[in-house]
Amino acid sequence: MTKIDLLTTDPLKKKTSALILGLFEDEKTPSPLVKAADLALGGEIARMRKNGELRGKAGETTLLPTYGRLPARYLLLAGLGKAESLTSESLRKASGSAASLLRSRNLPDAVTALALGSADPAADTEAVVEGTLLSLYRFENYKSEKAPEGPYLLKSLSVATDRKSEKAAETGRIWGETVSRNTILARDLGNHPANVATPTMIAKTAEDEARKRGITVLAYDREKLERMGLNALVGVAKGSDEPARLIVLEYRPEKPVNDRPFLLVGKTLTFDSGGISLKPADKMELMKGDMSGGAAVLGTILSVADLGLPVHVVAVMPATENMPSGRANKPGDVVTAYNGKTIEIINTDAEGRLILADALSFGIRTYHPALVIDVATLTGAVVVALGGQALGILGNNEELIERTRKMGEETGERGWPLPLFEEYFEQIKSDVADIRNTGSKGGAGTITGAAFLHHFVDETPWVHLDIAGTAWVDSSEPYKPKGNVGMGVRLMTHLLKDLAEHPLAGSSKAKAAGARKARRA
Ligand code: BES
Ligand code: MN
Ligand code: ZN
Repeated sequence: MTKIDLLTTDPLKKKTSALILGLFEDEKTPSPLVKAADLALGGEIARMRKNGELRGKAGETTLLPTYGRLPARYLLLAGLGKAESLTSESLRKASGSAASLLRSRNLPDAVTALALGSADPAADTEAVVEGTLLSLYRFENYKSEKAPEGPYLLKSLSVATDRKSEKAAETGRIWGETVSRNTILARDLGNHPANVATPTMIAKTAEDEARKRGITVLAYDREKLERMGLNALVGVAKGSDEPARLIVLEYRPEKPVNDRPFLLVGKTLTFDSGGISLKPADKMELMKGDMSGGAAVLGTILSVADLGLPVHVVAVMPATENMPSGRANKPGDVVTAYNGKTIEIINTDAEGRLILADALSFGIRTYHPALVIDVATLTGAVVVALGGQALGILGNNEELIERTRKMGEETGERGWPLPLFEEYFEQIKSDVADIRNTGSKGGAGTITGAAFLHHFVDETPWVHLDIAGTAWVDSSEPYKPKGNVGMGVRLMTHLLKDLAEHPLAGSSKAKAAGARKARRA
């Protein structure tokens, strides 16, 4: 991985292969750095701007040789779009585009000034680091011929900051490196084919990674799951020859700030053929990525441990394939879930909610969490509703939903809320069992999926993230190379930190603090 450090001296004076400077669209007066660089280059930047050859549009990148007029061999001008709409996400994207250009020109090192002078140096430094590392990612495990010099041609990047921002920038650098590394781990798991990334392999990866960090791991096998009564999960697994696992990770720091753990649950469906309700062949290969929710919770708990956050976290990953066979679930079958509710399986392709049902109620009953976040490539309907620009947010707690939405905005992993009105629950009532696994009416597929999950969380504050539309991209975006995105690691790691620092209003800690305040008043 590219080595990243901070630079607190003048970036214009630093010897490097390329100096990255930002340009705004419709900018009247250039930044002091651009002005100084322009002066050194004899007014070339101003000329190019005047001619419309340089516009500062988001995504624009221009590489100018400096011919020895600056210590940097090249100047890389990165468009940031309009100044008034600048966000950390603009910096993440611009840094991604810049890193891709550096890589294509075989430039081994660079200095970036994109986070210099920022009002939020921690967030912006983190964004620059993430944009760089995540854009350079390539999945080449199965290529006989790798790209020359391996996947990370950019060897080092120095992020310019000023003395007063140095501490915050250092925090941002560490966060950026940590969440990127674990996002890449999640991407790898999602990009591996399903004959490699099996439940067994994912359990092994989770065990190896967890042990390095003092996280405890359990991986329950089928016999154990049957005995414990996770019949909805076991039912989905019945059709497959790959053994299923329920992977449970627990990170318990010495002095956690939360007295009850935060629970993460991630759909780890290693291949979704649909089962007896078989999917069409077209694009079915993408269903190797149906474990992206599990990969996200794994990447998140690893990040929490790497960062040493004082938060007690439990992650549960129900891992199985969904395959057709003589032993597979059939439409009309009824299973009794871990919490005792009976489920009529109308469509065997609505399998994610079945395995999550057991994982949720098992996690809640076993660990009594303060709150639960589940993440899943649950419904094609969320692709229709929100496309690739936002994940679906649903749940039973308005504050948790709103804080998740806000954190999505801050981290660039954006989501948008959908309602869970009482009336939607009518659509999943069954004639023969307590509930059915698909809506009876059609329509609102993402919502009926979440309504189903609601039956397995009871009163615990809960938020459900449907990432079916955002987990992978079919063409490359600035810091998202084509393939699995590793969606959710960044969002959830930041959200857990935020929830630890500011407990939910309804939680026992917040109540106790409220009571103390009231007494003092
Ligand atoms: N894994 C799919 C959802 C999915 C679709 C993920 C497209 C990524 C891209 C899920 O298991 C599924 O098949 N859902 C069905 C539910 C339906 C049968 C109620 C769907 O969305 O069609
Ligand atoms: Mn399915
Ligand atoms: Zn699925």
